Amino acid sequence: EKEGYDHFMLKEIHEQPKGIYETLNRRLDDNGMIKLDGISLTKEELDRFNKVYIVACGTAYHAGLVGKFVIEKLAKIPVEIDVASEFRYRDPFVDDKTLFIAISQSGETLDTLAALREAKNKGARILSIVNVVGSSVARESDDVFYTWAGPEIAVASTKAYTTQLVCLYLIALYMGYTKGVVEDATYHKYIEELKAVPDKLREVLAQEEQIRNIAKELYKREQVFFIGRGLDSGVSYEGSLKLKEISYINSFAIAAGELKHGTIALIEQDTLVIALATQDRLFEKMLSNIQEVKARGAYVIGLAKENNREIEKQSNRVIYIPECMDEITPLLSVVPLQILAYDIAKLRGCDIDKPKNLAKSVTVE
Ligand code: F6R
Repeated sequence: EKEGYDHFMLKEIHEQPKGIYETLNRRLDDNGMIKLDGISLTKEELDRFNKVYIVACGTAYHAGLVGKFVIEKLAKIPVEIDVASEFRYRDPFVDDKTLFIAISQSGETLDTLAALREAKNKGARILSIVNVVGSSVARESDDVFYTWAGPEIAVASTKAYTTQLVCLYLIALYMGYTKGVVEDATYHKYIEELKAVPDKLREVLAQEEQIRNIAKELYKREQVFFIGRGLDSGVSYEGSLKLKEISYINSFAIAAGELKHGTIALIEQDTLVIALATQDRLFEKMLSNIQEVKARGAYVIGLAKENNREIEKQSNRVIYIPECMDEITPLLSVVPLQILAYDIAKLRGCDIDKPKNLAKSVTVE
């Protein structure tokens, strides 16, 4: 059932254009308006919430980092985010004015489920983003926004992440539009951009060969740093997790602006740095961060939108993604990082679909 692919992970990476298309399409009518189909988020309810809490683990938590950014930006409501294992033991400030969003591919992650129960006890409204229909998280939520990724078999999550992002964009847009804080033109611009993602993602996937060549240069490394700003910092965490969990390379992600507050001490001659610079708004800032590591001898793989060629001067290798609005780049930029992790793990002879010490769903504490 790997359909000709060597591993489920690679098959699932390639299923992302379809997963994104399905997740979007099932929620959009012919006029591009979001259909909630039974999910209860009326204007009155939205006006009553004074906070959103996003809770998840691992890759789903990384999707949540993007969710926080877009919900705050579009729906103009404060968003807190936490990993489930911290949230549940912290006596978090949650009440009946809180919209609690749990994100889970399997819907069976014990910490996420326990966090959800804790939030429910405190009176929060529970909306979950889940891939497995009828799973525990889905059953215990007030409402479920399903991802249409299809079954994810590889332990390393790929298509679950990108489809979770689509749900979060739709939730943010719906909230902002319904509350009247997102204008028609902005709303439709986002919808058009989202609809264009599956085709743009196919362009990214077409660069597989080129990414594999970069992997061949890098696979013997034992240490990698991922850096990025804004949405790119969230994607850096995900790229770093992907790499470490299947290749066992010691990989670390940090918001680029934080580098100089300590971590830059570790950058020396030939240290590998993967620098995400997809945000037009922050591009110049990222170029100076790249320069900082370059000046200490780092070997830099840059990742940018295709019109931002300036990055070539600062990087040893560059991977491009198609032009798109800054806010939706995570849907495109994560994919080269997934492929890079896959190719590196493969070259290192790792058991990609079943990495050591990991289980697909973590039902222990
Ligand atoms: C990483 C990965 C894990 C999961 C995490 C949450 O590739 O797969 O980090 O994302 O264990 O799992 P779910 O989403 O099933 O709650």
